Amino acid sequence: MADFLSAYSIQTWLESCPQGYLEGTLYGHAPGEEEIPLLRENSVLHEDAIRTTVQLVVGERCALAASSGLINAAPDEASRRFLATQTLDEARHVEIFTQRLYDLGIQKADLESTIKHHANPNLVKFAEILLEKVDRKQFVAGVVGQNIVLEGMAFTVFEMMHALNAETNPKFAHTLSGTIADERRHVGFGENRIGSLIKEHPEERPAIERMQRDMSYFMLATFADAFRDTRAFDELTRIGQERSHSRYQGADLGVLEPEEMESLLADTVLKEFKLRLGRIGIEYQTPPRP
Ligand SMILES: [Fe+2]
Ligand SMILES: [Fe+2]
Repeated sequence: MADFLSAYSIQTWLESCPQGYLEGTLYGHAPGEEEIPLLRENSVLHEDAIRTTVQLVVGERCALAASSGLINAAPDEASRRFLATQTLDEARHVEIFTQRLYDLGIQKADLESTIKHHANPNLVKFAEILLEKVDRKQFVAGVVGQNIVLEGMAFTVFEMMHALNAETNPKFAHTLSGTIADERRHVGFGENRIGSLIKEHPEERPAIERMQRDMSYFMLATFADAFRDTRAFDELTRIGQERSHSRYQGADLGVLEPEEMESLLADTVLKEFKLRLGRIGIEYQTPPRP
């Protein structure tokens, strides 16, 4: 418990995050970095960047509601304090991705209607399943849903997006890398804190396994929607824009077809889930493939 206490303390958070990798950043990136002109000038790519960023805002708003809601459901002080730091991290993620929407030209008055218009209904369902557990103050289920399933997904998606943008859009890639560092900490907490609680409450296991299967289903459906919409991909080909040959999970992202990217992402997330759920004593349940 001593290691757990110091690894997830506010002091450690201050030193590693605001005074560490976020020091000197502006909304998560270096001051002076800007969105690339192509995203502002090409209407298809512009719309795609907005749609993608909206999903990040939707996911992060869910994480903010979940981490703050879980504070008062937590059984111990150390978890409450960690969740307070996580709440601030998630609020920051909401803010930086919202700021990206403004940077892409969305007017403040149009923010909510833009989010509503582009939010993927499957991602909204995914969030609702988790928030229902949080509203009922089911701490163990809430932490598994939030810190293993939601963040395991976010973490993997952000890493792929980071690889896709590292060479072509440093501003967005930098915003993502601070977020990835935060998510890594959140996933670590989920694993470390929940294993022992599940042993104490084996009766909760079936409901948690059902929740994980349902959330996984809506996650895979969200991926399917995202990659089966090939408008931006086709536009890059049409204008002869060379895709960057960054590597992700051993693959060259510059040569993969959208459906190959979808399977690579889905397989990577599911492998991650199985591993992390296994470590806390939950058996991964395979959802039907959307
Ligand atoms: Fe987040
Ligand atoms: Fe997070």
